Amino acid sequence: MNLNPLAIALNADLSANGGAVMQMLSEKGKAIFFPSKGILGQGGEAKGSAINATIGTALEDDGSPLTLPCVQKALNLPKKAFLYAPSSGDPDLRDAWKNQIIRKNPSLANKTFSRPVVTSALTHAISCAGYLFLDKGDKIIIPNLYWDNYELAFCNAYGAKIATYNMFRNGGFDVTALEKALAKGKKGKKVLLLNFPNNPTGYTATEREANLIADVIKKSAEDGNQIVAILDDAYFGLVYEQGVFLESLFSKLVDIHENVLAVKLDGPTKEDYVWGFRVGFMTFGFKGATAAQLKALEQKAAGVVRGNISNAPNISQKILLQAYMSPEYIEEKKQKYATLKKRYDVIRNVFAEHPEYKDAFEAMPFNSGYFMCVKPKGVEAENVRKELIAHYSTGVIVLSGLIRIAFSAVPTDKLPMLFDNLYKAILAIR
Ligand SMILES: Cc1ncc(COP(=O)(O)O)c(C=O)c1O
Repeated sequence: MNLNPLAIALNADLSANGGAVMQMLSEKGKAIFFPSKGILGQGGEAKGSAINATIGTALEDDGSPLTLPCVQKALNLPKKAFLYAPSSGDPDLRDAWKNQIIRKNPSLANKTFSRPVVTSALTHAISCAGYLFLDKGDKIIIPNLYWDNYELAFCNAYGAKIATYNMFRNGGFDVTALEKALAKGKKGKKVLLLNFPNNPTGYTATEREANLIADVIKKSAEDGNQIVAILDDAYFGLVYEQGVFLESLFSKLVDIHENVLAVKLDGPTKEDYVWGFRVGFMTFGFKGATAAQLKALEQKAAGVVRGNISNAPNISQKILLQAYMSPEYIEEKKQKYATLKKRYDVIRNVFAEHPEYKDAFEAMPFNSGYFMCVKPKGVEAENVRKELIAHYSTGVIVLSGLIRIAFSAVPTDKLPMLFDNLYKAILAIR
């Protein structure tokens, strides 16, 4: 494996003064590094900016964390919250989450799928999926605009390779590129990951695209492939436009073909605004699955959890369970959705009122989630980011040549200024 420059720098520190620690590290130990230059490093540079659109959390318009009052109310817990949770998770929470999955995805009502297994939030669920489905050298097929932590989770941890395909064509999801990516190479196991609403772009497949995606996956299975379809639904439920597919692709894939295993990764971290609680879920389904087969998959997942973190935090599971049982939960979710939707609408209005912005940057397709991205014209995104921090006290993230704006974290009244700053910064350095 080619070592990342950050790993090389850490290894040089460890080798200094003839230290022997380097010889003690495994190959993975030598290759791992903390990604201090990516999203986290850029976020650090933006600290203290008047407008900070770097963070993948949600803030209220007054800058405080956006939270559900019913969750906060549940913080006062009985003593049993001090105990361990089972490795597969609190059984009542697992059932409550399964019921919620069905409530939020009505077409799952009569379909068979596993009980969700609790993980320590989505990052851990992603890692567990890597453990279960990826061997060294295996490819995982992902659109070219993706959350950068997949690299540590799949490549560093399991030696897998990310094979990308083009994400957008003509303002929508490039289903043909997905079809070609699935057809590439020899027949057999194919692992793919789809993430809607997407980080970094804030895009979710439309209803039509969701059908087409399901069709190409089905066709690939009919052609003799065994497909693991991992669905990263971290930002589920935050869709702001008509015609966008409101359910998880899990609904379509869970019974589409005997050779398609749908693996839904989701959780309350983003959906219920509890980023630090570290609870997520992993749910499985495939056409014709028996109860014993689904149970076996749950047991496998619980084994992965047992072997690396033993169990996810019980205290968070208990708080969430109480919140889900509280009558205010659904209404409070609606209110917080409205806060984020308002920001989305403000951005759409800003673009409508400022046609001149098109000369400086192009907005990538977006319709959901916490983020949107723009592509600056005639200048490097990284130079724009630096200019925005230096002269406009505005923090953004650069990923794959795009500028990512976390509108979830920007007070609504600062959004027009953010885009004005962006426009001016691009013109200033062009
Ligand atoms: C697409 C995507 N998946 C997963 C995660 C991880 O979420 P969690 O905090 O639940 O580990 C993030 C967080 O940034 C994300 O953007």
